[in-house]
Amino acid sequence: MTTSRIPGFYNLTLDQRLATLADASHLSQGELIPFTSPLAPDIASHMVENVIGTYSLPLGIALNFTVNRRDVLIPMVIEEPSVVAGASFMAKLARAGGGFTATSTEPLMIGQLQVLGLEDLSKAAEQVLANKAELLAYVDAAESSLKSRGGGARDLEVRLIEESPIGKFLVIHLIYDVRDAMGANAVNTACERLAPKIESITGGRAHLRILSNLTDRRMAKATCVIPVKELAFVGQIGNLSYTGEEVRNGIIAAYAFAAADPYRAATHNKGIMNGVDPVVIATGNDWRAIEAGAHAYAARSGKYASLSTWSKDENGNLLGELEMPLAVGIVGGATKVHPAAQAAIKLMNVKSAGELAEIIVSVGLAQNMAALRALATEGIQRGHMSLHARQVAIAAGASGELIERVASQIAAEGIVRIDRAKEILKTMESGK
Ligand code: MEV
Repeated sequence: MTTSRIPGFYNLTLDQRLATLADASHLSQGELIPFTSPLAPDIASHMVENVIGTYSLPLGIALNFTVNRRDVLIPMVIEEPSVVAGASFMAKLARAGGGFTATSTEPLMIGQLQVLGLEDLSKAAEQVLANKAELLAYVDAAESSLKSRGGGARDLEVRLIEESPIGKFLVIHLIYDVRDAMGANAVNTACERLAPKIESITGGRAHLRILSNLTDRRMAKATCVIPVKELAFVGQIGNLSYTGEEVRNGIIAAYAFAAADPYRAATHNKGIMNGVDPVVIATGNDWRAIEAGAHAYAARSGKYASLSTWSKDENGNLLGELEMPLAVGIVGGATKVHPAAQAAIKLMNVKSAGELAEIIVSVGLAQNMAALRALATEGIQRGHMSLHARQVAIAAGASGELIERVASQIAAEGIVRIDRAKEILKTMESGK
């Protein structure tokens, strides 16, 4: 039985953390090795072109998460300080309210065909719809591993684009169930197979044949209720302290800003993606696709806005909700070939792509709350500073125990700059 509650994890050495993680999860230390070993160059060179090496990023474990009443230890790959800690802390608060409740839709992707050279769009659209059953059967007649897993073509839709820089054209959407794959390859293959049939039915020319990253048929949603008393906050600066009600109202006001203003919404949603992307990356999924879908969805009303909502429930508790497109897979692509991605999926013990999406959307919500709570109280910088100070100390040349000593001093002085870190390091090294 996995527990995501590991008090004091932060204070352990790297080796102790691995041993503790093995104890807290259903994985052995051996199964965790992919997290600590670099990607083998021969695997890397089969993944992309012109490989000369690999590039590492920190992998941290987000703690305290319970998603749909199941404890889950969540690997996050990210270079930014405070994100793993922020998500873990908010998950602890959410735990007090039962954790995250998450759902996901069927894994339906959209493939698009742009049909050019048509005189009468409506007539062509009718012809396509009249042949729908036959066209779907034709797409499904091709051998595919997805079909054997229960996926395949589900529907065809038509969209008439009356105005564009090149005039009018027809767009056909192929709705395709990709089961546990991210599905880009399957959908693109299906679109290319469909294209000649569409051409012969409509008399037009199928130009682009490619999936849409606005995967609004493949959504994930998380909610959490944070008991208001859990929100009481004592800051690190001076004697700042806030009641739970004040923090709750501050978070709701911060959300209102993002709901009303695209400039703020972009940053608010970036905070959500701080939680989402690291898990997407850890599992070998395509984070550019997820980013593209999230931001396009955030602008679906015609005005870019917040992806999440924050309000209070009838008991005065804080209620958070995040719903976004999340096309992630647990089979195929990098998830299949990258040993650390496989270990990440194993660690979370997810059995379907939907379950993975439910965890990811929960982390996005937790991370959003971490940012809003900091912003609505003592500000973001204080929390960021101590970890940022360590990075600055390393950049200034500190190593070993000097990292911590230099970092503490520049943080205490409030001058978190490389030039100051170098001066302090010099003094420390010379033993003065
Ligand atoms: C920083 O990486 C993310 C934040 O800017 C998010 C936000 O403002 O909500 C803190």
